[in-house]
Amino acid sequence: MDLRLMAAEPTPGEREAVDQVLGQPDSGWAGGERDANEGHVSRGGHDLREQRHLLLPALHALQSRVGWISEGGLTYVSQRLDVPPAEAYGVASFYAMFSTEPRPETVLHLCDDIACKVAGAENLVEDVTREIGPDRVGQIVRSPCLGLCERAPAALLQTAGARDVAFGPTSMKRLDPFVHGGPWTMMSEAEPAQVAPQALDNRNGLRLLRRVGTLDPRSLDDYRAHGGYEALRRAVELGPDGVIRELKDAKLLGRGGAAFPAGMKWEAVAKQTVRPHYFVCNADESEPGTFKDRVLMEHDPFAVIEALTIAGYATGSEEGFLYIRGEYPHATSMLENAIDQARTRGFLGDDVMGEGFAFDVELRRGAGAYICGEETSLFNSIEGKRGEPRNKPPFPVEKGLFGKPTGINNVETLVNVLEVLSMGGLEYATLGTPDSTGTRLFCLSGCVETPGVYEVEHGMMLGELIAIAGGVRGGRELKAVLLGGAAGVFVGPEDLGLKLTFEDSKAAGTTLGSGVVMLFDDTVNLAEIVLRIAAFFRDESCGQCVPCRVGTVRQEEALHRLVKDRPIGSRQDELALIGEIGQVMKDASICGLGQLAANAVESAIARLGVFDGNGAR
Ligand SMILES: Cc1cc2nc3c(=O)[nH]c(=O)nc-3n(C[C@H](O)[C@H](O)[C@H](O)COP(=O)(O)O)c2cc1C
Ligand code: SF4
Ligand code: FES
Repeated sequence: MDLRLMAAEPTPGEREAVDQVLGQPDSGWAGGERDANEGHVSRGGHDLREQRHLLLPALHALQSRVGWISEGGLTYVSQRLDVPPAEAYGVASFYAMFSTEPRPETVLHLCDDIACKVAGAENLVEDVTREIGPDRVGQIVRSPCLGLCERAPAALLQTAGARDVAFGPTSMKRLDPFVHGGPWTMMSEAEPAQVAPQALDNRNGLRLLRRVGTLDPRSLDDYRAHGGYEALRRAVELGPDGVIRELKDAKLLGRGGAAFPAGMKWEAVAKQTVRPHYFVCNADESEPGTFKDRVLMEHDPFAVIEALTIAGYATGSEEGFLYIRGEYPHATSMLENAIDQARTRGFLGDDVMGEGFAFDVELRRGAGAYICGEETSLFNSIEGKRGEPRNKPPFPVEKGLFGKPTGINNVETLVNVLEVLSMGGLEYATLGTPDSTGTRLFCLSGCVETPGVYEVEHGMMLGELIAIAGGVRGGRELKAVLLGGAAGVFVGPEDLGLKLTFEDSKAAGTTLGSGVVMLFDDTVNLAEIVLRIAAFFRDESCGQCVPCRVGTVRQEEALHRLVKDRPIGSRQDELALIGEIGQVMKDASICGLGQLAANAVESAIARLGVFDGNGAR
């Protein structure tokens, strides 16, 4: 070991928090007591560096124990993992949920992103900040979408030494314990019974949401009583090639945004000769307006684990990772429990279900970085690095996690696999349309009567879906719909006939993205919404490539000038500049974040004429 460590020492609490993740140090060189026999030469550095993937879990442990990551804590982690402190600092400072500055023990993250803005988040943030007074102002942190848009405005409470709590809808009344000091339990009361409103009355046609609300999500027995683990049995009967054939017959496309055929991806991983193979479940779900994966994980967690196990089996992967965004404490706890139970009962481990194959799952938490949903940044994040995307090729199926062949799918894609196997691929392909098979989860939020996750067959019209959710709230006039998330596209009321399929949305210049359908009525100032989206991309750009790092800033600046009606030159000049910036970001950015960062802005300008008049529409 040849690290230049900082002089700061960890507190006993910090040391203990890190040791709980990494185990006790086995030598003085690795942060333990130095004994005389250890001499002047450090051995075992290689072994320590192999543990680098535990950097994020160790940083999480520090953050949650003391509420921030101190110099002493960081030094200790660096020493334990043989990571230079500057590099460890680079990682800690990359993620929004980690603080490398002293922070109060209790911090309330208030979402001021688009759905919450529509629900009055701005006033709420101002009211809470005023009530608690200037001494406590550091306890309020504005947050991008927390994935609780059906309960806007949403919040996440972080308290040192306690588990995080995400909740909504918030109000001054509900936040009273935070403002005036009272029992926190009032704020963390259970969520409204039904986040999937269709499951309340008519379950017909529900497939992915079939068990939501009927199942005890903490019980493996209950899951099995509802048909759980029959799909894995079927997979073993079919064998790996048979499973992949069913997926291809089903024509299942990925639901995480890129619509890549799942069967092709699995086949490409399976045939790699390099070992080991990994399979990753992408549960980062940070696209503003998206919360469908959260609902599946909270209400049907064993289904996610079963599907991931099938993916492992079919692709010859020995190990699975489930990467969940850090702002999902409830879903995390449900999955931890599901993994523990599955392992105890032999559904994970060295000999899954006694069928002679090994597969286990590690849960990894993100720490507040939208970019970590991009598959290669997600791998970097698991490996204990800054979540910066890699250049492709090589593609993950050849060189993914730890440089090995890796399959990765979104939560919803994986849960579809259970349906494919229980129905049979060809039968599954009769659902939806020939090119967009199966059902789809849509996240309805904003000015809609009954927000929540809805499941419909591909091919339904946008207007029909909105009608199922009760239409525009209060019967008001519809001004716009954001489809696919912040990286998606705005459409107007004239587009309600759009068929919700991959092919129709593409032909119409829109996207289904991650299933976001966010409504805005005639009371909403759309320019403010577009500005918030631009700010989101400016904040979330990882900064690795110039077109995106600079383009997202310039895009936001130009929009601000338009809103304030202070253009440089004419308004037409500014609109032309925004168009050019968008084009450069599309053409020259390394990853999808930069390539899509102008999508919603451009559609608001071109389709809705949001910046046509003076100022805002
Ligand atoms: C900026 C960015 C963010 C992304 N976020 C997510 C995400 O949160 N969840 C997800 O499943 N895919 C996300 N993706 C897509 C992934 O890179 C990848 O395509 C996906 O996990 C593959 O799974 P699928 O084929 O099942 O869709 C994101 C992509 C980009 C460019
Ligand atoms: S496009 Fe943006 S997010 Fe993607 S690598 Fe470049 S700077 Fe990072
Ligand atoms: S939770 Fe606030 S916008 Fe999604």
